[in-house]
Amino acid sequence: MGQTLAGRVAVVTGGASGIGRSCALRLAQDGARVAVLDLNAAHAGDVAAEIQAEGGTAHAVGVDVADRASVDRALAEVRKHLGPIAILVNSAGKTAHDSFLDISLELWTSVLTVNLTGTFHCCQAAVPDMIEAGWGRIVNISSSSAHSGVPYMTHYVASKAGVIGLTKSLALELGPSGITVNTIPPGFIDTPMLRTAQAGFLDTPTEKVIGQTPVRRAGRPEDISAACAFLVSEDAGYITGQVIGVNGGRNT
Ligand SMILES: NC(=O)c1ccc[n+]([C@@H]2O[C@H](COP(=O)([O-])OP(=O)(O)OC[C@H]3O[C@@H](n4cnc5c(N)ncnc54)[C@H](O)[C@@H]3O)[C@@H](O)[C@H]2O)c1
Repeated sequence: MGQTLAGRVAVVTGGASGIGRSCALRLAQDGARVAVLDLNAAHAGDVAAEIQAEGGTAHAVGVDVADRASVDRALAEVRKHLGPIAILVNSAGKTAHDSFLDISLELWTSVLTVNLTGTFHCCQAAVPDMIEAGWGRIVNISSSSAHSGVPYMTHYVASKAGVIGLTKSLALELGPSGITVNTIPPGFIDTPMLRTAQAGFLDTPTEKVIGQTPVRRAGRPEDISAACAFLVSEDAGYITGQVIGVNGGRNT
């Protein structure tokens, strides 16, 4: 794998679980000093300890990405312990499943605030370091549901479509500063979020989805972190504003 990210500080939100955890582990293996940020500070600490046990450098910080003051405090702690932020992966997310007519303004706002405004907060708080350095990489985890739409998930899908729009526009604005901004919309990745959804509202048994997936398997968090590792690398410097689907071919 090598130490292609040596000297870089990477922040991964939602880093305590699933896709974010896999991205944190992978970027550390590639040499980055990794800040593991999550609402679940204890689990973020476990991931940081896992990285340290493998010989990497990591620091865990509890954060609520929906709360700008919390994001600002967390990034200040990252700068103090690890240094200026060069790489940001926004993976923190909240799923929801409700009939459209049952979605209260409060519920709508809470989903939009974590998934879309949380991404806005983290980008806006981290980008000054990247502009200062003349180099930066942002990867926003959106969702394949924004390709297709999903019934009973208008709030979630709207929030993820918003992340795609934010990504495209921010890429145009930050390109001249040496910063790339891309989004990975995952599809059917075996994580705690997916398992919880399957145990509750998601009427899609794994075997059925696998049968509908061209590569004939479910996704793994490592499928997303591999794409993420490429997008934050030096080699990906000419790729920005892109939607890089990682979904086994179900959405093209
Ligand atoms: N698993 C999939 O198939 C799939 C598909 C499409 C999109 N996604 C997206 O991928 C991202 C990661 O999901 P996952 O499947 O790894 O889920 P996960 O539940 O395993 O991990 C999500 C993490 O985000 C954290 N989080 C939630 N709200 C937060 C907040 N306000 N502040 C900080 N941290 C918060 C959680 O504590 C959790 O550790 C999410 O944005 C999700 O919407 C996942």
